[in-house]
Amino acid sequence: MIIRENILKAEGKGIISNKLIPLDIANEEFKMLMSLYNKAELKLLETLNFLKEYLREIYDYDVINNIVSRIKTPASIINKMKKKGYEITYENLINNINDIAGIRIICTFKNDISKIRDIILNMPNVRILKEKDYLTKSKRSGYTGYHIILETDVEYEGEKYPMKVEIQLRSMAMDFWSTLEHKIKYKSKHKLSNKDSKKLQVYAKVINLIEDRMIKIYQKQL
Ligand code: GTP
Ligand code: MG
Repeated sequence: MIIRENILKAEGKGIISNKLIPLDIANEEFKMLMSLYNKAELKLLETLNFLKEYLREIYDYDVINNIVSRIKTPASIINKMKKKGYEITYENLINNINDIAGIRIICTFKNDISKIRDIILNMPNVRILKEKDYLTKSKRSGYTGYHIILETDVEYEGEKYPMKVEIQLRSMAMDFWSTLEHKIKYKSKHKLSNKDSKKLQVYAKVINLIEDRMIKIYQKQL
């Protein structure tokens, strides 16, 4: 089976054929691959939603304010692969596109992000593949957050498949900025002007400052 060969190949376990198998989104194999990503996402969501409730009980407030998730659409997958210059094959998709399954965890306060990060890093049944720390150093755009790419096994017809999931950790303030910034960039027909990009970078800093000050007031009340 194409999918199994490629998933195992990505893992370095399988028989490696040099054939680059073209990807066809209308094909049953593609749909089956997407449902494996969906299964992996649902499995993690169950654990994370449990964690959300558990933390609320322990800390008496919503450490995790909300969790959102999505599976990347076929059109968006193809777009991304083209943009990154990958030949449209299963192998390239499985090896190089890490955010087919995506979960975003939005914490109430930025101080809580490291708590959630540590819990995720120590979760059983997952393998951490990559961490991207845009908290210590924000991206050029002004974007801040903490990203974890991990892998979890899902079972299908008696076989285990290791599937990648991207988890983004943000605070509500960070999420506010990035959601709006994404919409602005997505909406604009032209590339943003330098002036507008600069403004967005400044706004990210301002929002960050406001968050710090609000946390200070909050902590004074404790
Ligand atoms: P892609 O952006 O997914 O191609 O991969 P990458 O290798 O650049 O990874 P990175 O971790 O930097 O970004 C992954 C995801 O983070 C994106 O798909 C967005 O959801 C989010 N992100 C990264 N940078 C920005 C940004 O400048 N603005 C916004 N709004 N979101 C961003
Ligand atoms: Mg992405």
